[in-house]
Amino acid sequence: MTLQMKSTVRRSGPRVLVLRGGEVVDADGRRRADVVVEDGVVTAVGTGVAVPPGATVLDAGGCVVAPGLVDLHAHLRQPGREEAETVETGAWAAALGGYSAVVAMPNTEPAIDSAAVATEVLALGRTAPVEVAVAGAITVGRAGERLAPMAELAALGVRIFTDDGAGVQDGALMRRAMDYARGLGVILAQHCEDARLAGGGSMHEGPWSSRLGLPGVPAAAEEAMVARDLVLARDSRCRLHLLHLSTAGSVALVRQAKLAGVAVTAEATPHHLALTDAACATFDPVFKVNPPLRSEADVTALRGAVGDGTVDVVATDHAPHAPEAKDVPFDEAPPGMLGLETALAVTMEAVGLERALAAMSWQPAAIAGLADRHGGPVAAGAAANLCVVDPQARWTVDPATLASRSRNTPFAGRTLTGRLRHTISRGVAVVIDGEAQR
Ligand code: DOR
Repeated sequence: MTLQMKSTVRRSGPRVLVLRGGEVVDADGRRRADVVVEDGVVTAVGTGVAVPPGATVLDAGGCVVAPGLVDLHAHLRQPGREEAETVETGAWAAALGGYSAVVAMPNTEPAIDSAAVATEVLALGRTAPVEVAVAGAITVGRAGERLAPMAELAALGVRIFTDDGAGVQDGALMRRAMDYARGLGVILAQHCEDARLAGGGSMHEGPWSSRLGLPGVPAAAEEAMVARDLVLARDSRCRLHLLHLSTAGSVALVRQAKLAGVAVTAEATPHHLALTDAACATFDPVFKVNPPLRSEADVTALRGAVGDGTVDVVATDHAPHAPEAKDVPFDEAPPGMLGLETALAVTMEAVGLERALAAMSWQPAAIAGLADRHGGPVAAGAAANLCVVDPQARWTVDPATLASRSRNTPFAGRTLTGRLRHTISRGVAVVIDGEAQR
């Protein structure tokens, strides 16, 4: 709460609010209740609450009122790739998706591998419509050779370290990073990909890659690094988070490691819960992503793993690429797809509303160290970071209307069920009736 009060609060948008007629859903369960927000704080939750003078009343009828979503994995591209996204445009995309906080990935140009770059991105985040936390790189320049100054970054509040976009290939270096991370009380988040096994492939290795004649990335490229890092985390007792898992084999390894008491959490993306490698038959580069879209059996295993808690978090891996970057043959295109504005609906369809909210709000809030102000519960005295979702509303994804600076959504033209209605960030209604309050 103290930190919340210190951060710059956006002045636009109503600040005394009543969310009326919704059903509150948080880690404590479900109940019908109105929610009153004043000066950044939830001041009342219940039926028949008094409306403060001058309050803006937002209709939540037929909707779920939940803690704001927290994305552990968003590529905001600033500094260096502002043609694809900026902290500002990415944060608006997040707000429109129901997020009240995002963790910006460090594969920027330059990488977030120093206090100077982290400070720059944190400063950009201060005027954004949602809270922007940053992840730091594990190695200098994400080159996998020397450790980044993790202590310096941790002193700025950086809690998650990753070379995402690439895995740390050198096991000895990863073990050393884990020892430092344990001492600093931070989390290492691994992009699990053995580069040699992946062999420059551009889609999942299987019957579809053979048929299409595209070079494949075997499931083993991911699973080999998952297995290695689980063993290293067991020995170092470091907190390990496994990013964007995509295979049934990875899920089985995590399940076993959790049973053995390894301090690991795991993540899956909405696109890996919804799409298979069959989508690559279009040769449309919008379906190229790393890790690649996998088989039907992998999708089923991932859905089951979110359902039973083996996978703790659904995070977007929101990866904007400018249209000209993606407008090349499939095997030459950069991997990545947009996620922030479609994640909740796609995840709700895959695993249901309650699992989606747990995996997208309170569980990631705890991992990111943001649970003092994000992830609920929705109760008097809590920081007002909330989303209001109509679980029945159907809408068709139109890339032209997205707030992201890029257009590479794999869900273009798809009709989804479940739509974000309002987002309250730091007590301010930054999205009302699906409209950004810029
Ligand atoms: O598809 C991906 N795109 N996977 C990653 O790990 C990185 C990301 C990006 O930065 O474009």
